[in-house]
Amino acid sequence: MLALALETSCDDTGAAVVDSTGRVLSSIVESSIDLHRAFGGVVPELAGRAHLATVTPVVQKALDVAGLDPHDPAIDLVAATAGPGLVGSLLIGLSAAKAYALAWDKPFVGVHHLDGHLFAPLLETPEVEWPLLTLLVSGGHSMLVLQRAPGEHRVVGETIDDAAGEAYDKVARWLGLPYPGGPEIDRRASSGDPHALQLPVSMRNDSLDFSFSGLKTAVVRATERQPEVGVDDVAASFQAAVVEQLLRKVTQALEREGARSVALAGGVAANSALRHALTELGRERGVSVYLPSRAMCTDNAAMIGAAGLHRFAHEGASPLSTPARPSWTLVDR
Ligand code: KG4
Ligand code: ZN
Repeated sequence: MLALALETSCDDTGAAVVDSTGRVLSSIVESSIDLHRAFGGVVPELAGRAHLATVTPVVQKALDVAGLDPHDPAIDLVAATAGPGLVGSLLIGLSAAKAYALAWDKPFVGVHHLDGHLFAPLLETPEVEWPLLTLLVSGGHSMLVLQRAPGEHRVVGETIDDAAGEAYDKVARWLGLPYPGGPEIDRRASSGDPHALQLPVSMRNDSLDFSFSGLKTAVVRATERQPEVGVDDVAASFQAAVVEQLLRKVTQALEREGARSVALAGGVAANSALRHALTELGRERGVSVYLPSRAMCTDNAAMIGAAGLHRFAHEGASPLSTPARPSWTLVDR
């Protein structure tokens, strides 16, 4: 089966064509990040307007690259992210997908954005060793999810305050680095000393939950106390504390849940220190580690197509009355 998928939950307009064997025939992403940089974060109204301007050309390009007739493509369904995300952004992709489904007389499927992120590593890993533990870390979410098979997941831990990417962005802003701060801190940290600042590693307890807001405050306090410490060293110290907390929770979850492999997902999965540390952990503990490409870590429509095909096979089509759900929580399945 072939799906056309749309993703417009935040600042990226994505359209992709994927099949049910996991083959990605096309995946186009148009980001509006340049419009938001001056504001230090995504401005919902600007994101919505950008989606409105780009959604049709992005879909046309995805069909074109996949070699499909743009007027009557030989697809089996149209999938779109229904939530969570910015409501004005979600509505653009969702409405467009419903209109295409109606015009081409194809079934429509509404997809949970995080379901998509969980499918992303599977698209690039031919032979997954189940059960799989996924560390999903982005600007809006941070969680540990155990999967027994594709689409069968249980959230085993999540952040009790900020998301990991949000902490990166806030610390970067404090340091005067441009938005989005994650890639910037990653880059600066590579030439810094991770021991320059003494920062606490939060959540040294039995729970599999994360916490990042205390760390952000600790960075502010420490830099006020030691103004002589340079930006590279602060970045390296902060990043080391984030990675240590994430790795601790992954280790605890592996021990408790008996997973045979670990995958990274979400924008923070592009972080070089995290990728390196997780690879080492996998080697030490004898578990397979799946590190998706950067394009597959960040928001894209190919992962929504994969989740949409799975959902359609198990639950059938979604009604065209499916609403945008900005605060949709991921339920265990
Ligand atoms: O998944 P994503 O593209 O968007 C959503 O939040 O859904 O993730 C964006 C987040 C931002 O907070 C950004 O700063 C962070 O991912 N990020 C990184 C890196 N690249 C992106 N954080 C740390 N290191 C990176 N290399
Ligand atoms: Zn995302």
